[in-house]
Amino acid sequence: MMRTYIKDLAAKVGEEVLIKGWVDIRRDQGKLIFLDFRDVTGVIQGVILPNAKEAHEVGSKLRSEWVVAVTGKVNKRPERNVQKDKLNGEIELEILNIEILNESVTPAIDVRGDGKDIGEDSRLKYRYLDLRRPRMQKNIINRYKLMKLTRDLFEKEGFTEIETPNMTASTPEGSRDFIVPSRLERGAFYALPQSPQQYKQLLMASGFEKYFQFARCYRDEDTRGDRQPEFTQMDLEMSFVEREDVMAINEKVLIELVKTLYPEKQIQQIPFPRLTYKEAMEKYGNDKPDIRTDKNNPNLLAFCWVVDFPFFEKADDGKWTFTHNPFSAPKPEFMNDLMEKKNIENILTTQYDITLNGYEIGGGSIRNHRGPALKKVFEVMGYEDERIEKNFGHMMRAFETGTPPHGGIAWGLDRFIMLLQNEPNIREVIAFAKTGEGKDLMMGAPTEVLPEQLRELGIEIKKKK
Ligand code: AMO
Repeated sequence: MMRTYIKDLAAKVGEEVLIKGWVDIRRDQGKLIFLDFRDVTGVIQGVILPNAKEAHEVGSKLRSEWVVAVTGKVNKRPERNVQKDKLNGEIELEILNIEILNESVTPAIDVRGDGKDIGEDSRLKYRYLDLRRPRMQKNIINRYKLMKLTRDLFEKEGFTEIETPNMTASTPEGSRDFIVPSRLERGAFYALPQSPQQYKQLLMASGFEKYFQFARCYRDEDTRGDRQPEFTQMDLEMSFVEREDVMAINEKVLIELVKTLYPEKQIQQIPFPRLTYKEAMEKYGNDKPDIRTDKNNPNLLAFCWVVDFPFFEKADDGKWTFTHNPFSAPKPEFMNDLMEKKNIENILTTQYDITLNGYEIGGGSIRNHRGPALKKVFEVMGYEDERIEKNFGHMMRAFETGTPPHGGIAWGLDRFIMLLQNEPNIREVIAFAKTGEGKDLMMGAPTEVLPEQLRELGIEIKKKK
């Protein structure tokens, strides 16, 4: 017999079916044994009647999380037992035969509730169990649906998804790099990308014009509820565009995603309102303002663009540093100031951030597509010519070869999905998330490696403190 998925059972009343899945709950009432079964599509209540002798014998052994193949007859429930709003609330399975496919020890964590009362370290350590709970299954499946539709929508707009390397060179880009030692070139290191920023700009130099990518990014910074050392961006870059073009296409896609996948949600204001950085700071005291008119409404999405950020700010050491992205262009009216390195504190960048309910869910800018302008940014920050050449020479060379004007954006995908799923942190929407200390408790990463692995790399570890 062919397997039927549990969500399809309601269409099979009166028929004999085969289902496969997990024992969700077992209630033994002596003569009657009630068993709920679960597969990836849902739950069905089953019952073993006293006359099904063999099934009864197996059924009395079963425990939660055992894996079974069950044949049975789909029956309508008696009127008094009907649960109208529940999947399969009008039917039940009369169990005829049960085959045990695998047993289960008592699970280390309960997988049926929403899991919010379980310590998060346990949830992360036994993540394969934690992911069995319907809430987590929904988060991960809806994440996929959002990615799929995002891909489709950008494809419709003429974009091509292009993969870029995860082993690259360390460059100063705002955060700390994770680095990977090279075996073939002892003492040299790759860096994991903080974002595909340089590659996507070089793809514009290559003439692809409309690039996007779901890109894994790596940043060695302190983890928070909305930050992971490893996270995903929906990264995008376009040629021959101005700020308005990039903002418009992103706004269009964001709206379509919400309307299609989350019809129950309400977008507070369309077109998305805009605040300048100055206005946001004055009115809300931060640059990712929560502009919701009703903060108790879980279905309200208040998108907001923040623009006109200062390009530079003073770092702790008193030197100028970029506020967002060293590759950004100043707003056109400040290009002269940049080229003459004057009026630095007043230069505004083309940077635009997109915020949602008080979170920064994305940011981007129009770039300096001419080498001399990019060089000036690094000069303002006090970089020597030699360092600029070493770190960014390849960008300068590319810009000398007919690189079109271009700009882009990256969404923090995890944050966006967290908000759409009404979750309190991004770990809830990442299948295998890391702890606040950057640990993968399930795999035990990071770990020490074998002495011969270190020897091959020419690395010696000083005694641990
Ligand atoms: P930025 O650094 O602003 O821009 O990153 C873009 C978006 O990524 C999300 N984000 C994070 N999400 C989870 N964990 C983190 N540690 C984390 N860090 C950032 C945020 C943020 O808005 N290359 C540029 C984009 C561009 O200019 O096109 C960039 O990476 O939601």
